[in-house]
Amino acid sequence: MCGIVGYVGPRESQDILVAGLARLEYRGYDSAGIAVIDENGSLGMRKRAGKLARLREALETDPIGRGTTGIGHTRWATHGGPTDENAHPHLADDGRLAVIHNGIIENFAELKRELVAEGVEFLSETDTEVAAALIARAYRANDGDLVAAFRAVVHRLEGAFTLLATHEDHPGLVVGARRNSPLVIGLGEGENFLGSDVAAFVEHTRHALAIGQDEIVAITPDSVTVTDFDGNPAEPQPFEVSWDASAADKGGWSSFMAKEVSEEPEAVANTVRGRIHDGQIVIPELEGLDDLFTGIDRIVILACGTAYYSGLVGKYAIERWARIPTDVELAHEFRYRDPIVDASTLVVSISQSGETMDTLMAVKEAARLGAKTLSICNTQGATIPRESDAIVYTHAGPEVAVASTKAFVAQITALYLLALHVGRVRGSLDAASAADSIEQLEELPEKIQWILDNEQERTEQLAHWMADTRSVLFLGRHVGYPIALEGALKLKEISYIHAEGFAAGELKHGPIALIEPGQPVFVVVPSPRGAATMHAKVISNIEEIRARGARVIAIAEQGDSAVMPSADEVLRIPLASPLFEPILAVVPLHIFAMGLATAKGLDVDQPRNLAKSVTVE
Ligand code: M6R
Repeated sequence: MCGIVGYVGPRESQDILVAGLARLEYRGYDSAGIAVIDENGSLGMRKRAGKLARLREALETDPIGRGTTGIGHTRWATHGGPTDENAHPHLADDGRLAVIHNGIIENFAELKRELVAEGVEFLSETDTEVAAALIARAYRANDGDLVAAFRAVVHRLEGAFTLLATHEDHPGLVVGARRNSPLVIGLGEGENFLGSDVAAFVEHTRHALAIGQDEIVAITPDSVTVTDFDGNPAEPQPFEVSWDASAADKGGWSSFMAKEVSEEPEAVANTVRGRIHDGQIVIPELEGLDDLFTGIDRIVILACGTAYYSGLVGKYAIERWARIPTDVELAHEFRYRDPIVDASTLVVSISQSGETMDTLMAVKEAARLGAKTLSICNTQGATIPRESDAIVYTHAGPEVAVASTKAFVAQITALYLLALHVGRVRGSLDAASAADSIEQLEELPEKIQWILDNEQERTEQLAHWMADTRSVLFLGRHVGYPIALEGALKLKEISYIHAEGFAAGELKHGPIALIEPGQPVFVVVPSPRGAATMHAKVISNIEEIRARGARVIAIAEQGDSAVMPSADEVLRIPLASPLFEPILAVVPLHIFAMGLATAKGLDVDQPRNLAKSVTVE
């Protein structure tokens, strides 16, 4: 939901801003723009509807003067369609002030009426231009003090915002503010950066500061000043970015998604690494925090989209190993239904970005109600972990493609680590189960790699043949059910094909009516060894849909011969205990969705209407 970058320093800012936007484009790609104070002290601005390439063309044909202070924005439209006029930056103060924004200013209509009554004219339909006009008015009232203008304006804004501004009276200064929306600082030598996330500046510096909620930041080439909204000094939290710029490059792959699927083994391995000591799960981030797990009688998992599906898988592991009743809920549904949580509830949020507004708001609500909070997150310096009592990071590395893949397997891995950790702390896990589970976890990366090496080509071929398919169904039972949901979401998201995931047992309660001759149905088949009863039931489900003409593509473990006569195609996964199968079974589904979207000639990294990080409710 919009990428933001700011730069002050000795270098040509245009190049730095555009390179930063290229790395942030996954956050939104409806339009892009930059504003730079040039060497003559004039503010130059270019913005274009469409992807960043259109802005690049505009800058080539109509360059801005050279300058070393600037701000840049890549947009996911909220107020007003993706047009040149609605693109950011927005100008005010006779074109001398430029403002960019991520989030939604909920009271913008009322503020706009006030400004229109004063004679202010607006060129766009955005809420951002209202903020720009307010900052301009406050700037004049505060004798040209941009930071003071921010302090005056932020109190009037409701909703979520990250705002950055630069004014031609102040070359060498960029001012920002954040509420419920991300902003981090990159510390350089004689130069400083601001970004929605560290990707904006990681090629220049890995030293970063996380800005707290309701804070204002001013950067110059040699200084960084952070205060709260009233001007009291604030302490931003320093952190080192654990990956370098090359980790966020395509590195020769045809798409970020292809690269990220190939990194699924590594994402799991890195999430496990350093968390097993002497045959026991030890999560260093949770040391000294046993209280979080001992005084509780319930866990509530909150997340959205793919992260929610990982939570559905995690529930099985937590209930099995930690023996705590666990509910999984969509974060946006939780917040508005007067939820019953208290100090005996541990709320576990899951978010790749750590910025999903629905999840953030749900976590805050849970904390307000007295629950303990723990976040599983992939992004350092993000807001949700900072709002939580404890953090378990997934170490999947930067995920750029909008469709989440490697983060999903890393999230399930982290949930399993958590379940084993809590099981040990609460004494509910016997040593043999713990040892077996740890061994299974450690074997996962190699098994995922086996799927990539042995089944990727065939799965892509299948996707190619199915490029004209109009609808695909996905079935699973137990931990296979969330995998069916994930398979369907991935296909919808990047190939725009109708897809639905169902619990296999639910089929005869309605969805079987959808089956007609030729209907493709993916079925996640449980292991005949570890889950014989469920296996038999799923084979029966396959027979039921085949009898009605479905074309069945089974995902089944190697050596499962019972599936052979029933399915039209079988994609194989290595042997694993039932609880560990989802991390394997999802891999062919990720490959399939990517293969089908590619066969349709679609942009798998930047599907229509979506953004990677959903920072509005
Ligand atoms: O950053 P988060 O994990 O909080 O994001 C949650 C969802 O928006 C995300 O998983 C979304 O569903 C993906 N695009 C799915 O591939």
